Amino acid sequence: MDEKELLHNAPIGVFDSGVGGLTVAREIMRQLPNERIVYFGDTARVPYGSKSHETITRYSRQIVRFLRTQDVKAIVIACNSASAAALETLEEEIELPIIDVVRPGARTALSATKNGKIGVIATEATINSGIYKRYIEEHNKTFSVVGKACPLFVPLVEEGLWEDPVTDEIAGRYLSELIDIGIDTLILGCTHYPLIRSAIGRIMGEEVRLVNPAYETARALKKLLEKKGLESEKRPALGTELYRFFVSDSADKFQKFANSIIPYGILSAKAVNIEDY
Ligand code: DGL
Repeated sequence: MDEKELLHNAPIGVFDSGVGGLTVAREIMRQLPNERIVYFGDTARVPYGSKSHETITRYSRQIVRFLRTQDVKAIVIACNSASAAALETLEEEIELPIIDVVRPGARTALSATKNGKIGVIATEATINSGIYKRYIEEHNKTFSVVGKACPLFVPLVEEGLWEDPVTDEIAGRYLSELIDIGIDTLILGCTHYPLIRSAIGRIMGEEVRLVNPAYETARALKKLLEKKGLESEKRPALGTELYRFFVSDSADKFQKFANSIIPYGILSAKAVNIEDY
């Protein structure tokens, strides 16, 4: 294999604070079936959503250093909290193509809204950063963006309570103020939230468009790879390890959760000591 071919066949590095980024990885698998993926879930240090900007940036730098040891050709920050805290720093520090989940999600909302009232639900770190609001209002000053942190959603998803009255009850409390404001578009600004999309949709009603940034992120990644001439031209041969998973805590626990999200069967996940990077 020559150097050019090696680069084309190199994997995409995708990272998240834990399992949530698998909703983004799943979308990349769907839309870019020829691409290999190396996924890192920081399961030992999750959640990022309640941590400071500095801590999340430090964690993200370590993960990028680890992913580089896997010879990735591009990086996807598949975590809203890490995108909000670390995107600009990582863009300055590394020369690899890099995609976050916030800007693609914000772009979808910008084109989806009819009445210019957009809601964002996310972790505290993402909401407090004001990143969605800033990005959308920079592109259209007449639009208004209202953010709401929903910290209980992540543990509800991780407990598997995707279709449960408890989730509906909590969603009702969190979302009532967004309903009162009359938003017509709601960004699911945390990687876990697409997994409780049905509960959120039930509360918001059919008229409110729910935006899952994962879809647009995969599209943006496709365009970026094409622009840089980095796309993998053919599907790797059967038996080649298309997807590899690494975590910073128990691989067994991750594997179980991941297998309920990813339809491809996760053969193995490996634990690494991320503090070494
Ligand atoms: N992946 C995180 C996000 O999208 C949610 C989980 C966490 O708080 O780390 O913001």
